Amino acid sequence: TGNQMWGGRFAAGPSAIMEAINASIDVDRRLWREDIMGSRAHARMLAAQGIISSDDLAAIETGLEQVAAEIEEGSFPFSAALEDIHMNVEARLKEIIGEPAGRLHTARSRNDQVATDFRLWVRTACLRMDALLADLQKALLGQAERHAATVMPGFTHLQTAQPVTFGHHCMAYVEMFARDRQRFTDAVNRMNECPLGAAALAGTSFPIDRDATAAALAFDRPTANSLDTVSARDFAVEAVSAAAISAMHISRLAEEIVIWCTAQFNFIRLPDDYSTGSSIMPQKRNPDAAELCRAKVARIIGDLNGLMIMLKGLPLAYSKDMQEDKEQTFDAFDALELCLRAMAGMVSGMSVNEARMRAAAGHGFSTATDLADWLVRELNLPFRDAHHVTGALVAIAEEKGCDLAELSLDDMQSVHGEIAADVFSVLTVDHSVASRTSYGGTAPDNVRAQIARWKELMKGP
Ligand code: ARG
Repeated sequence: TGNQMWGGRFAAGPSAIMEAINASIDVDRRLWREDIMGSRAHARMLAAQGIISSDDLAAIETGLEQVAAEIEEGSFPFSAALEDIHMNVEARLKEIIGEPAGRLHTARSRNDQVATDFRLWVRTACLRMDALLADLQKALLGQAERHAATVMPGFTHLQTAQPVTFGHHCMAYVEMFARDRQRFTDAVNRMNECPLGAAALAGTSFPIDRDATAAALAFDRPTANSLDTVSARDFAVEAVSAAAISAMHISRLAEEIVIWCTAQFNFIRLPDDYSTGSSIMPQKRNPDAAELCRAKVARIIGDLNGLMIMLKGLPLAYSKDMQEDKEQTFDAFDALELCLRAMAGMVSGMSVNEARMRAAAGHGFSTATDLADWLVRELNLPFRDAHHVTGALVAIAEEKGCDLAELSLDDMQSVHGEIAADVFSVLTVDHSVASRTSYGGTAPDNVRAQIARWKELMKGP
């Protein structure tokens, strides 16, 4: 009838609905590795401190190994009546080794146990995202290298602005994803303190060694306040917020891919293995993966909101509300992982239509700024006046239905008499990008230097 973990004072078991609302095993079973890792570290510390015997430790270690093997091979009897992963593991340990299993929970509570397991999981997840982001950066670097000098239109307001290179565009995302990686490693550094030993909320009267468990689980140190330890979930909020920011960046690249793939733009072609067809329209190559990358950010931001709203207003210390932290965190990291893998696949497999990009780069009076700059440099006009003269020339070209480079010298001189034939040399897209040599600018040599810098940075120690 009563619960074998805490049923001492209960005469009856829970109602079916109580059990259903209380059970988290379907979600938190994913913490099984971390739970066993934490239990092993705790048991070893208890034995080293003389709190349990070495025989008990040996039994616990053997039993935990068997539990791990059963979960790994899929024969473990998960039970909703046992609520969560912590009680499932401990109950099975008891079936396997008997009485010593009951000593494992000495000087421990599920409150510090779950805080430890969850931190370990989030830490690993952050490091996994960092590695996947590095893969995506490498895919972008590969395209940037191939297309350091491939001219494309640069946009503001999605209106043609000035020519840039596709390599420069790829490198913009390399920078964004680098900051995303820093956010994950910052989160890891801040969360890297061990909760074990905070016990239920107040610490414990047993002579435990928190430095030992912290070191065994590769934390930098134990947490300093037991109440904070079992109450805090900001480590998860911070990690999911890093995930949301990264997914937001991915969604922007995804949107560009969707646009670039259209027949109207036709800048890139996605590889077959990242395209889908239509059941009715045979000509279709749909960028579904990019669209889903664009969409997934929504649920990740939703997960972040859910976490924060769940935590706001909770009194110290642990409340069962906090059990809801895992589903959203797992969901956010699952979604981001898919996006990162799909995006790396699309980026490394996409082929670039250089001729189309170049042609588009020349349309829309994209070198008008170069013309204005020429007037400043050669005729010493103030930039505002040069802007005005150029605007009048754009109006003439627009009226004639031609590009700036196709205007005659007479047309040019009708607006400003001192314009010389030499002006035409700055109106090509190649001249335009090659002239943008200021640090961080789009000149192909700059782009190549940035690629080299990133390849060096990413070599690692
Ligand atoms: N399954 C619980 C959770 O995820 C574990 C902690 C339960 N602690 C408690 N005092 N009921 O939050």
